Amino acid sequence: MDYEELLREAMRAARATAGRGRIADYIPALAGADPHAFGMAIATVDGQVHGVGDWERPFSIQSVSKLFSLVLVLAHGGDALWRRVGREPSGNPFNSLVQLENEQGIPRNPFINAGALVVTDRLLSLTGDAAGQVRELLRAESGNPDLATDRDIAASEAAHGHLNAALAHFLASHGNLENEVEQVLEHYYGQCAIAASCRDLALAGRFLAHHGLRVGGARLLSGSDAKRVNAVLLTCGTYDAAGDFAYRVGLPGKSGVGGGVLAVVPGRAALCAWGPALDAAGNSVAAVAALDAFTTATGLSVF
Ligand code: DON
Repeated sequence: MDYEELLREAMRAARATAGRGRIADYIPALAGADPHAFGMAIATVDGQVHGVGDWERPFSIQSVSKLFSLVLVLAHGGDALWRRVGREPSGNPFNSLVQLENEQGIPRNPFINAGALVVTDRLLSLTGDAAGQVRELLRAESGNPDLATDRDIAASEAAHGHLNAALAHFLASHGNLENEVEQVLEHYYGQCAIAASCRDLALAGRFLAHHGLRVGGARLLSGSDAKRVNAVLLTCGTYDAAGDFAYRVGLPGKSGVGGGVLAVVPGRAALCAWGPALDAAGNSVAAVAALDAFTTATGLSVF
């Protein structure tokens, strides 16, 4: 396949969405993102890396980090996590409090904010440095030593983080946090505020396409855990739009309010697309359009 030409075609589809969507501003430091930016990259299991547009420009990965913290917990043999968090789609916005109250402090899945807080808490207990572990995994897989946490974004989110603090306190009141609320929030904001490019994220997500094998060939996850993570990505990775994302793109994927979407073609490649303007569910309009165009043109989908 001529991946570069296919990515250029996908970028044309993304550019056609110009003017649609809104940049996230509930974290004030994200509001200054360039609405015209767009990038897309592919990293194949046979070692090719291609990209178009702003594919090497770092952006705030936000909830894409939730995928890597989950993987690190599972890689530490953290199967007991599933007693503290479910794996069903929530059908609710990513920061909703409602279900948590009705469901006794057990978040529906690891990708909504409540679930990700539980995962971060577990990773903190297992390693002592949840945000640092996520950053190191991304650095190692991308081979990019400059990949770093944007402290201004972390501080901006913390200063406006009442909703996440409410979720964390609610979890704590149900005995579903092992560490102090403040510590869990600090690590959660720290992992969300990592800045990485489409190139970095496509390389970092490649193990999910490669049955759990890292870029150098070492095993990060068992083949069946890689399959399970892909399944949870497909059903829960794009929140209350997971059905629409599966319908249009047909791949496991994880979005973030920085505008990035990482998607996995099992057995083949990881793709990352980025454009900062979001739809109502918090998923990038341009990135979803580009992934839709790519899988439609190539037939590279799980269906
Ligand atoms: O906690 C938050 O609201 C953000 N740090 C992350 C949310 C996010 O990226 C949701 N994804 N689309």
